[in-house]
Amino acid sequence: MIETERLLLRKPVPEDAEPALALITDPIAMEFIGGVHPDAGTEPGFVVRRWLERWDDNGCGPFSILRREDGRWLGRTGLLVWDVRTWTHTTFESAGEHAQPELGWALAREHWGQGYAAEAVLAVREWAYAERGIERLVSLIAPANVRSQRLAERLGATPGETVELFDGGPHVAWEHPR
Ligand SMILES: CC(C)(COP(=O)(O)OP(=O)(O)OC[C@H]1O[C@@H](n2cnc3c(N)ncnc32)[C@H](O)[C@@H]1OP(=O)(O)O)[C@@H](O)C(=O)NCCC(=O)NCCS
Repeated sequence: MIETERLLLRKPVPEDAEPALALITDPIAMEFIGGVHPDAGTEPGFVVRRWLERWDDNGCGPFSILRREDGRWLGRTGLLVWDVRTWTHTTFESAGEHAQPELGWALAREHWGQGYAAEAVLAVREWAYAERGIERLVSLIAPANVRSQRLAERLGATPGETVELFDGGPHVAWEHPR
C-alpha cells in the first residue's frame, strides 16, 4: 500500500473489476494500449485476475489507484515485465538478464487532467527503485500517444530507443531517472 497526498495505491482486489472493466472497454482510453480486448465484455473479472497473476509471477504488477477523499477507483499504474529479445511479456524468472520492467499507466477518462496520473506514477516509481531494487525503468509509449508523452516528460523521463512490441508495433522506450 502506498499513500500520496490525494491517492491510495494498492494491489487490485476483485471488487475493482467493475470500474476496471469500464476503463478497458473505453476505446478512447485504450486507443494506444492495444484497443479494447475481445474478451473484455464477456467476463468482468478477467482483467483483475490477469493483474493479480502478474503480482504472483513477479512480486510486482499494476496497482489500483484510489482517490483518498471518496475511495473512487481512478485507474492503474505499475510494473509489467518484458523480454527485450522479443518484446513479449515475461517473468523475471524466465527472462533473467533479458527482463526489462516497464512502468505503465492508465486512468479512466473522467479522471484525466487533474494530475492524478503523475502523482500515482511518481510514487510507484520511487517504490520500485527503493523497495524492489529495480535498476532501470522504461515506459513504452506509442509515437502518437501525445498525452502519455507529456506525462513522461513531466516525470523527467527522456525518449530513448524505438523498439518493436510483439503486439503493438514501434514504441519509444522512455527512460526514467533514478
Ligand atoms: C496518459 C494519461 C494517464 C495522462 O493523464 P493526465 O491526467 O493527462 O496526466 P497527469 O496526471 O500528468 O495530469 C496532467 C494534467 O492535469 C492538469 N492538472 C490539473 N490539476 C492538477 C494538479 N493538481 N497537479 C498536476 N496537474 C494538474 C495539468 O495541467 C495537466 O493538464 P494538461 O494535460 O491539459 O496540460 C491518460 O491520458 C490515460 O490514461 N490515457 C490512456 C491510457 C494510456 O494511453 N496509457 C499510456 C500507455 S504508454
